[in-house]
Amino acid sequence: MDIESVGVIGAGQMGNGIAHVMALAGYNVVLNDVNQTALDTALVQIHKNMARQVSREKITQSTMDTAIARIQTSLSLTDVGATDLVIEAATERESVKQAIFDDLLPHLKPETILTSNTSSISITRLASRTDRPERFMGFHFMNPVPVMQLVELIRGIATDEPTFTACQRVVERLGKTSASAEDFPAFIVNRILMPMINEAVYTLYEGVGSVKSIDESMKLGANHPMGPLELADFIGLDTCLAIMNVLHDGLADTKYRPCPLLTKYVEAGWLGRKTQRGFYDYR
Ligand code: CAA
Repeated sequence: MDIESVGVIGAGQMGNGIAHVMALAGYNVVLNDVNQTALDTALVQIHKNMARQVSREKITQSTMDTAIARIQTSLSLTDVGATDLVIEAATERESVKQAIFDDLLPHLKPETILTSNTSSISITRLASRTDRPERFMGFHFMNPVPVMQLVELIRGIATDEPTFTACQRVVERLGKTSASAEDFPAFIVNRILMPMINEAVYTLYEGVGSVKSIDESMKLGANHPMGPLELADFIGLDTCLAIMNVLHDGLADTKYRPCPLLTKYVEAGWLGRKTQRGFYDYR
């Protein structure tokens, strides 16, 4: 199946990044959200990020203008339903994603491939409640989407080969690399990354090191571009906790238990950069 248009549901950090890279790769994009302010903010962010690429001579001004013109924002799922590939990038809560799919399905072309950018929720379970489990799979981008090279492609138990191949071709057209993952809790990247971040929080909780010394140790001692606590703030502490809970519940192993300090920060509403406060203070 030839994919020419992409519907992106959710105009937050991930959704606007996905719209950005899809438009630059030549796809017509429908960027959908329930909230007009979120759509407006997303467009401002896309402009800003593309302008930075222009100023660093990664793309030309005319490439940027053409790409921006390919992005249509919409509050209606009917517009999304007419696209060839849908990527759901809404809040990382199963009930929210489920409600979106329920509303979307009546508008969806039969041949459209339906995917989720979920970082940890079971693809098989999400797919089973749609009318197209064979044309459903995980399409997981990393943050920041315009920069990160990897896209995890996750097969649900029923995902068929043409669907997987079509998504692989989209990743190639984006100039990114795909990694194929089977549908088990948190897939590959977060199965490995989140326990590392959680362990960094335990290291802080147990007083082994300060925020600064933990982050500097991993940046200078392991060559990570960001320290684990800085990265947790960047991803969102609520997202980190949600993924640890998926690992803990799904694999039933105490090695995945979320650090109580991570839970406490989330309960305080200190969610990282997006709330101006996490392990660091951004105010
Ligand atoms: N959007 C678009 N582009 C951005 C950006 C953003 N939010 N932030 C930075 N960039 C671009 C810059 O324009 C710059 O591009 P060029 O090299 O082409 O000029 C490049 O990224 C480097 O930026 P900076 O020099 O300003 O900053 P930096 O060198 O400190 O890099 C970083 C910033 C790329 C974010 C780097 O710190 C990094 O790689 N951090 C780790 C990110 C990471 O691990 N992401 C995965 C998170 S896990 C995940 O996403 C999965 C999940 O489900 C939770």
